[in-house]
Amino acid sequence: MTVSSHLARPLVDSFGRVHRDLRISLTDVCNLRCTYCMPAEGVPWLARENILATEELVRVAEVAAALGIVEVRLTGGEPLLRRDAVDVVRQMAAIEGEDGPLEVSMTTNALRLVKLAGPLAEAGLARVNISLDTIRAERFAELTRRDRLQDVLDGIDAAIEAGFAPIKLNAVAMRDVNDDELVDLVRFAVDKGCEIRFIEQMPLDAGHIWSRVKMVTGEEILAQLGEAFELTPVGERGAAPAEQFRIDGGPSTVGVIRSVSKPFCGACDRVRITADGQLRNCLFAREESDLLSVLRADGSDDDLAEMMHTCIAGKLPGHGINDPGFLQPDRPMSAIGG
Ligand code: 5AD
Ligand code: SF4
Repeated sequence: MTVSSHLARPLVDSFGRVHRDLRISLTDVCNLRCTYCMPAEGVPWLARENILATEELVRVAEVAAALGIVEVRLTGGEPLLRRDAVDVVRQMAAIEGEDGPLEVSMTTNALRLVKLAGPLAEAGLARVNISLDTIRAERFAELTRRDRLQDVLDGIDAAIEAGFAPIKLNAVAMRDVNDDELVDLVRFAVDKGCEIRFIEQMPLDAGHIWSRVKMVTGEEILAQLGEAFELTPVGERGAAPAEQFRIDGGPSTVGVIRSVSKPFCGACDRVRITADGQLRNCLFAREESDLLSVLRADGSDDDLAEMMHTCIAGKLPGHGINDPGFLQPDRPMSAIGG
């Protein structure tokens, strides 16, 4: 890997934000059909031949590491549906960043963790975030259109057993869907020794059914939790999207991610690559940089590095969800990666 010295510098945008966190989508395919993400029949999947090969993923990550990326989060779709997911983790975790090997983490729906938690830990995966919006089986089946809550719960146990810590559980709070079980979800997480974070729903669904009135705000979430627990704010959130609260004096904490009502774009250090090799400077970006074409046209590492710098230089100050002219990105969340 050879990035020339004039390009081997941090990915800084025009607002001074330094990018250190790279999210890589391993596949856009998923084994659930969460109603807030996809229609029942799924979405038009990306063309298989455009999905980055493992060597291509690794090469992009190596170039990114030369530009100051220190953390890689693998996402999807469901990343564990990629056949060589464990191998990808192993190779990513072997890449040297400026503070040592890249820290590799994953966001998963946990369905395949029973099988893979052990091998992933052994391959060098540092942390897992698990999506869990409900712990009621019937509701899970309705929300995800698959009757598989038990597999998710087993997957969580497998992750605990494999030694991942802290395990974060992500729950999207939705009105009239799961907003009556937020307290139960917190109790479940505390019981398991996991940290739960509630996320405000963002306009990212393929069906464009998001509505501001349906969104449960962070304020509402905190008000509800405040009835059951004593919540004490923990420190400043920095570049991390979650605001943390200690539950009943601790040590357990709960997080609230107010992506819409209290955006954290000003501290964003994230950049994303879709499974088909398109670099995005924001979840809500309207433009992408085509790394795939550079890779497949025998481009050099400098060509890749230059494209990364140009992409970050064009990053807007914020997602603009609250602006009157806001337009949802053309790609659904499943094809961008959390
Ligand atoms: N808004 C907020 N979070 C979402 N996720 C998926 N779609 C949305 C949305 N519209 C969450 C998933 C998962 C993570 C990758 O992003 O539940 O935890
Ligand atoms: Fe799959 Fe995640 Fe979308 Fe649910 S939200 S369908 S788990 S990609």
